Amino acid sequence: MDVWIEPEADAVARLAADFVQDAVGAGEITLGLATGSTPVATYRELIRRHREEGLSFDRVHVVLLDEYVGIAPDHPQSYRRFIRDTFTNAVGIAPDRVHGPAGDAVDLAAAGADYEALLQRLPPRALQLLGIGRDGHIGFNEPTSSLASRTRVKTLHPDTRADNARFFADSESVPVHALTMGIGTILEARRLVLLATGDTKAAAVAAAVEGPVSASVPASALQLHPAAMVVIDEAAAGGLAHRAYHAEVAAHRPAWQRPGAGA
Ligand code: PGA
Repeated sequence: MDVWIEPEADAVARLAADFVQDAVGAGEITLGLATGSTPVATYRELIRRHREEGLSFDRVHVVLLDEYVGIAPDHPQSYRRFIRDTFTNAVGIAPDRVHGPAGDAVDLAAAGADYEALLQRLPPRALQLLGIGRDGHIGFNEPTSSLASRTRVKTLHPDTRADNARFFADSESVPVHALTMGIGTILEARRLVLLATGDTKAAAVAAAVEGPVSASVPASALQLHPAAMVVIDEAAAGGLAHRAYHAEVAAHRPAWQRPGAGA
């Protein structure tokens, strides 16, 4: 895993935007995007580059990691609505190029299979952005999710529902289930970029980066991927035992590994 430790959250957003910019410059591609609070600063930076520097998303398709079950695409808390309102509309990605699992489907097993088939039909997923839950989840793959899992229904952990209650009227309104890309599905993207900021993520980041690969920490599956980047601020890096080594790596990083060198 390639760990990039930045001084603060804004620098994390700029570096993540650099990686996204590399991916969108590579032609007709699919971008895997994450929702939640962490990537919002990255989306803001990409919107700025679109407006001020002409960064084009004309050849980009977007796929989301997950969607709440029982929530229609236009519901204010729907992730498909969130990504349109927060990012894709502002950079000119047409709504018919923005996809997420159909959490409002009657047959959720079929909706999961349909999403997998869509991912096969779309252009290659050049980059998948990821957040991480305090319990180590990626997407809504909660602890004990199979490392080989595909898009399917998961039951949210009570801690995840509590964390996400801030977006709803109250915690009772947070859906119990979600339709999420599996860990196996996530690992098929060409490059993974996991973002984390703040000390509440430090333990999960340490377990994912330095702990054993385990279904108990779904983000540890990134250790199995040949091009997984972990982009974090100092606070989120606070639990890393190999902190000094990561600084050594950063100090001696070859130019070709940096964004802008051709992904
Ligand atoms: P957050 O969510 O970015 O809102 O902290 C991350 C996640 O649960 O994956």
